[in-house]
Amino acid sequence: MPQASTPIGVFDSGVGGLSVLRALLAAMPHERFVYLADSAHAPYGERGDAYVAARTHAISRYLCEQHHIKALVVACNTATAAAIHEVRSSYPELPLVGLEPAIKPALAATQTGRVGVIGTRGTLTSAKFGKLMASLAGQAEFVVQPCDGLAHAIERSVAQALPAPAPGSTAYTTETGALCARYVQAMGPFGTEPGQIDTLVLGCTHYIFVAHELRALVGPEVQFIETGEPVARQTQRLLEAADLLYRPADAAAGEPCPHPDAARRVQLLTTGPVAMLEAAAQRWLDLPASCCRSVQVS
Ligand code: DGL
Repeated sequence: MPQASTPIGVFDSGVGGLSVLRALLAAMPHERFVYLADSAHAPYGERGDAYVAARTHAISRYLCEQHHIKALVVACNTATAAAIHEVRSSYPELPLVGLEPAIKPALAATQTGRVGVIGTRGTLTSAKFGKLMASLAGQAEFVVQPCDGLAHAIERSVAQALPAPAPGSTAYTTETGALCARYVQAMGPFGTEPGQIDTLVLGCTHYIFVAHELRALVGPEVQFIETGEPVARQTQRLLEAADLLYRPADAAAGEPCPHPDAARRVQLLTTGPVAMLEAAAQRWLDLPASCCRSVQVS
């Protein structure tokens, strides 16, 4: 039976969901988290729905049974599109938050009426995304670009511990930089003049980690829309409604008190190479290797 002191589960195909975990940690400084990177099976984006749904089920079961999570954040647009409904029906009591490309906030932000959307092929060709787009038809012009290979290249760049390019650099010497350049060029002109894309939706949790490369390509005025903070707020709301938010006062009633130091209240698990997760945790969340370990989830 989940209690206020048990952790919130978060998972992604790999290290991309750490961008969501970062927002969750900032929004809920007293909560514990267990994050699972399914890096042995990443990328999900080009694998097909049946594969992604099977992985999503296996991981949800693992987090519920082994970690007794009190809520689950599917920090992966691709897994949400493929399987969120099934997870909801398997765990009807579990507060569950999925991700989808933030098209509605982009509509509110655009001035030119031209919005770019980047994500995995799995997300952008899903029925769920199709339905979302249909519900907003005519409200703006959407330029939708699947970015095959980009999430995988981001995973590899962490594994190789490549240095971030210098701010403002346009030398695309990295694999991620070359892919970003290819997809940005395919989408057409960016900027704030009429007919240009002034708002770019990052519809994959990995992409925030190449925001500097995208920024160098699209220019300083284009707005990036991502989902970390709204997802953290929604998670907090659901926990509050279920009376499962950890309150420091619970400690007085005998509940163990989660440590305020993030390194003491986060477990980072991976089905892939632990060194990659350690590098990402250190680089993006400033968390030590001691938070990380490898697990098998089948
Ligand atoms: N980070 C994931 C997403 O938000 C998927 C990346 C992948 O594994 O292809 O869609």
